[in-house]
Amino acid sequence: MVPSPLVLGLAAIASAAGVSAHGYHKSHINYTVVPGIFLQDDPATDPSTFNFTASNFGLIDRDYPHVKKQRHSTQWERLAKYIKELNAKAKRNERYSLLFLGRHGEGFHNAAESYFGTPAWNCYWGPMDGNETVTWADAHLTDVGIDQALTVNKFWKHLIKDERIMPPETYYTSPLYRCLDTARLTFSGLKLPRKNPFIPIVKEYLREGISARTCDRRSSRSYIHRHFPKYKFEKGFPEHDPFWTPLHSETSKDQDIRSKKLLDDVFTSDDSTYISITAHSGEIASLLRVLGHQPFRLSTGAALPVLVKVTTLQGEGPATTTEPYAPYKTCATAPTIRDPSCNDCSCCT
Ligand SMILES: *[C@@H]1O[C@H](CO)[C@@H](O)[C@H](O)[C@H]1NC(C)=O
Ligand SMILES: *[C@@H]1O[C@H](CO)[C@@H](O)[C@H](O)[C@H]1NC(C)=O
Ligand SMILES: *[C@@H]1O[C@H](CO)[C@@H](O)[C@H](O)[C@H]1NC(C)=O
Repeated sequence: MVPSPLVLGLAAIASAAGVSAHGYHKSHINYTVVPGIFLQDDPATDPSTFNFTASNFGLIDRDYPHVKKQRHSTQWERLAKYIKELNAKAKRNERYSLLFLGRHGEGFHNAAESYFGTPAWNCYWGPMDGNETVTWADAHLTDVGIDQALTVNKFWKHLIKDERIMPPETYYTSPLYRCLDTARLTFSGLKLPRKNPFIPIVKEYLREGISARTCDRRSSRSYIHRHFPKYKFEKGFPEHDPFWTPLHSETSKDQDIRSKKLLDDVFTSDDSTYISITAHSGEIASLLRVLGHQPFRLSTGAALPVLVKVTTLQGEGPATTTEPYAPYKTCATAPTIRDPSCNDCSCCT
């Protein structure tokens, strides 16, 4: 079995959460969701029918403790006051932050999976770079995906102008093209505060769960820089994808470990309260698990806000051990059934 490149990679990432290399000042970070702020956090909300643009991003109309309801203030302005108040009264090891988690718009890999059906996609087409007419390796956005991102751009314009929302102070994105491009389309042309321009930081650990499908293999750093010259890279971001491995997959346990590291890294290096993250369906699901948020599946182009309480605790956190990548099975010819329960490619024809 191939040793997980993630195991090697984790050692290279600067130790987050203030854990010194010598072992003293050990601490770890714990995340909890502040309940009652957004509908997405309510078990009664059905993610499959929820429309975030039609519902003010899910923000619940309510009063907050110690926040006066001024006549012309919006719910978002009152939330901003509440978060300020929470942070002002927080203990030294606590802080509150509002994360905006956005999924990329439809990519060519999404369209291909719908076209071929999940078994044929997973077991035959997905590990290829594309077919005669379409490339889905590090997939770009389809026209549908571009429209989805532009719809979210319009929504942000509305939120900033009419709802007077606090826009993100910092931006992070997955290194996969569909996220780089979704972030660009979503946040370009907005009236942003001068001190917080849209200059995202590309973070390796925001990528999608790594499978042997080529949509999970990123392009080189120079390719990304050529297409998104204004974006910054996190420290140590290598030229070539260090993690994607033919015919092997990252386990979801490993994915949660790196999602936790990603959050620890952000919260130890960034003082911002309002933080935007552009990533993937599987990666956002993993971030939500680490944050202790209920599962909330996003369709392509959708986003959700999460108010997070970040607590730094003394001592080492629970031990985590990364696993080796799991072998990824394929079929010699495309399975003809479309039943998505054929996850393990037991349906080869
Ligand atoms: C969501 O609501 C908006 C109105 O805010 C509407 O234009 C859009 O079509 C709705 N989306 C879906 C998928 O129903
Ligand atoms: C290649 O795949 C796409 C699905 O994304 C499909 O629309 C197209 O027809 C396929 N091309 C050929 C030549 O089969
Ligand atoms: C850490 O967070 C989880 C929820 O994500 C919570 O259940 C748990 O009580 C927290 N642990 C501590 C020590 O605060």
